[in-house]
Amino acid sequence: MKSEAKIITIDGPSASGKGALTKALCQFLNYKILDSGLLYRAYAYFYKIRLASDEIKENITNLDIEIKNNELIVMFKGRNLTNDLRSEETAKLASELSALKDTRANLLGIQRALNNEDGLVADGRDMGTVVFPNAGNKFFLNASVEIRAKRRFLELQNRGQEVNMRDLIDDIKQRDLADQSRELSPLLPADDATVIDTSDMSLEEVFSFTKKLIKGN
Ligand code: C5P
Repeated sequence: MKSEAKIITIDGPSASGKGALTKALCQFLNYKILDSGLLYRAYAYFYKIRLASDEIKENITNLDIEIKNNELIVMFKGRNLTNDLRSEETAKLASELSALKDTRANLLGIQRALNNEDGLVADGRDMGTVVFPNAGNKFFLNASVEIRAKRRFLELQNRGQEVNMRDLIDDIKQRDLADQSRELSPLLPADDATVIDTSDMSLEEVFSFTKKLIKGN
């Protein structure tokens, strides 16, 4: 299979630093962004309002996702869905639905269609293993549960959402376990991915480390 140098995959568990690295690389390389977790969250959001799967797919294809002030803003028919999609409630439903074959199959084509000539940085759980197995540059980020919970806590607090640290640690552990042990597309580094533990690294450190390893750009 031909390796696609202009696809960079960044996989890993929640709050491992994937989102920040993905945005930094996109801005540096002028590549397009795919935050696949956001698509799973959108899937959950539309599922919750009881849409049928064809309608969900169509709505997801019509989302308008843009980086503004270093944040991904999701608009749908003029409505800003960002906070709804980033809530812990949506994350839990997204995690449950993401274990189902139909959900993954419905989102596979949508994700692959985002590949383009300008280049793509794809952030998720199975970007390097399933969605873009021929990506030329694959990374898998990890960090301790405590550090990840702290990062998520600050992120949600900045967004004005009140959460309890203990609940957050429990949620993250539960979600990790579900993501790692599911049958379809479990959370795993691809064989050819570089694994990076970001627990004691700043974003700048992760960014410059990754940048040096990227080939063919
Ligand atoms: O990354 P984020 O926390 O936004 O993802 C929400 C949920 O979507 C994850 O907990 C995971 O279950 C699911 N997901 C997935 N495959 C991906 C991206 C996200 O199963 N590629």
